[in-house]
Amino acid sequence: MDKLLLIDDEADVQYSFRRIFDQPEIQLTTADSGEEGLKLIPRLKPDLVIMDVRMGGMSGLETLRRLRQMDAKQMVIMMTAYGTTQTAIEAMKLGAYDYLLKPFDVPRLKQVVLDALKAARDMRQVVSYQPLLESEDYDLGIIGRSQGMQNVFKIIGQLAGSNATALITGESGTGKELVARAIYHHSQRNSQTFLAINCAAIPENLLESELFGHEKGAFTGAAAQRIGKFEQCNHGTIFLDEIGDMTLSTQAKILRVLQSGAFERVGGNQSLQVDVRVIAATHKPLEQAVAAREFREDLFYRLNVVRVPIPPLRERRDDIPLLVNYFLKKFAQAQGRAPKSILPAAAELLERFHWPGNVRELENVVQRATVMAKGDVILPGDLPPEISSLPAAGLDKPGPAPAAKAAAAAAAGGGLLDWSAVGRTLFAWARQEGKLKVLPAVERELIIQALLETKGNQVQAAKLLGITRSTLRKRVEKFKIKQELAIQ
Ligand SMILES: Nc1ncnc2c1ncn2[C@@H]1O[C@H](COP(=O)(O)OP(=O)(O)OP(=O)(O)O)[C@@H](O)[C@H]1O
Ligand SMILES: [Mg+2]
Repeated sequence: MDKLLLIDDEADVQYSFRRIFDQPEIQLTTADSGEEGLKLIPRLKPDLVIMDVRMGGMSGLETLRRLRQMDAKQMVIMMTAYGTTQTAIEAMKLGAYDYLLKPFDVPRLKQVVLDALKAARDMRQVVSYQPLLESEDYDLGIIGRSQGMQNVFKIIGQLAGSNATALITGESGTGKELVARAIYHHSQRNSQTFLAINCAAIPENLLESELFGHEKGAFTGAAAQRIGKFEQCNHGTIFLDEIGDMTLSTQAKILRVLQSGAFERVGGNQSLQVDVRVIAATHKPLEQAVAAREFREDLFYRLNVVRVPIPPLRERRDDIPLLVNYFLKKFAQAQGRAPKSILPAAAELLERFHWPGNVRELENVVQRATVMAKGDVILPGDLPPEISSLPAAGLDKPGPAPAAKAAAAAAAGGGLLDWSAVGRTLFAWARQEGKLKVLPAVERELIIQALLETKGNQVQAAKLLGITRSTLRKRVEKFKIKQELAIQ
């Protein structure tokens, strides 16, 4: 649950907040003055404070200044009526996350609050990279036992005592943002602000002003001065995500800030000085962009001081079972239930898939499967068709694989099943697995399937299989099926 503290002396503002944020995930507390708010904060530990600039008693700005001395990281959004935006700008210089104009535009209010809550989580949730697989009380961790991830952990550890710029590279969904937050949490700047900016998500012409701010009238639409993220994040850490997507002119400004800490707001000529640590990430091969003259070579070398390469998931398949377990636990915890388990056959499919969307895709698939699974066990059929239709193990060599695919596709699409293809596939599977007795091997799998589908009801399973109940019982004993199903 996210805790929101509203500090405003106007009763109707408090009233509309109660209505707007009347939702179970948000706990709203109100205070009538800056003094009262400051008293509440240490006890309440709000994730976000929303405060009016103009209040009776201590002003919003003064309250913010004192709050900063108590906690440099506290997320704050200021509210202001038209005409007092100058004060809001002062507030941004004091590290306020954003400001809102009264009267509110409700969708924008909600969006700004959601963004700020995410930024607050980024700062508060400690991302651990220590082996914590067995412990129950972790918030968020980076999972990985593979050599590739061990290497990543080693670099994070080496970076802990330094302010060096780091460049995180890896395909989409490999965990770049997670690693960036881990670097921040284990750095000396972890009591200061952390701001993440996705350079690809901001239109080119706005990115510069987002990062460096602008002066009033700097361009059409620049109705007031704006404070940029670098200024707001002084002494803190900025995470520049998708850095490969910046224009050359923004790149030049970033380079200058990295080298000397100096920059100007867009349209301004006063040089400002900041001390900000930069962590950058990209899924694009920057070397190629440099060769194509789309990315400045000098900036590349300046960013590349410490390189953190995250390997794609398909190159560290031994992490997959750990990740699956972690996600199963995570979703269960979120829903307040016991985690589901996964049938070895389904787990094996997950291990063999090539995961173009990497860990993010795996996380989504596990989440979907938890929802799809009717019982406590995730079955191959609960996985998306592109995964559940992977040819059986040992078959992904040319030959029987097309047959298996055809059979699975026909089954999945409800089309006519090519029984001779199924026969060929099963036969090839049993042979390749080195099973001397093909029929019992296949029979065993069919019986397991039937028992799973009937949730262990032997009468129904026997019916489905077309055998008597006593035959089924004998087979279950002979093939030691109970033991296998019991471990689930
Ligand atoms: N090693 C890991 N352990 C646990 N969770 C992970 C791991 N790697 C990634 N995740 C999870 O996978 C999801 C994607 O990770 P993240 O957003 O960090 O990837 P990314 O590389 O920044 O992707 P993109 O390039 O698409 O922005 C997140 O939910 C993250 O928590
Ligand atoms: Mg990312």
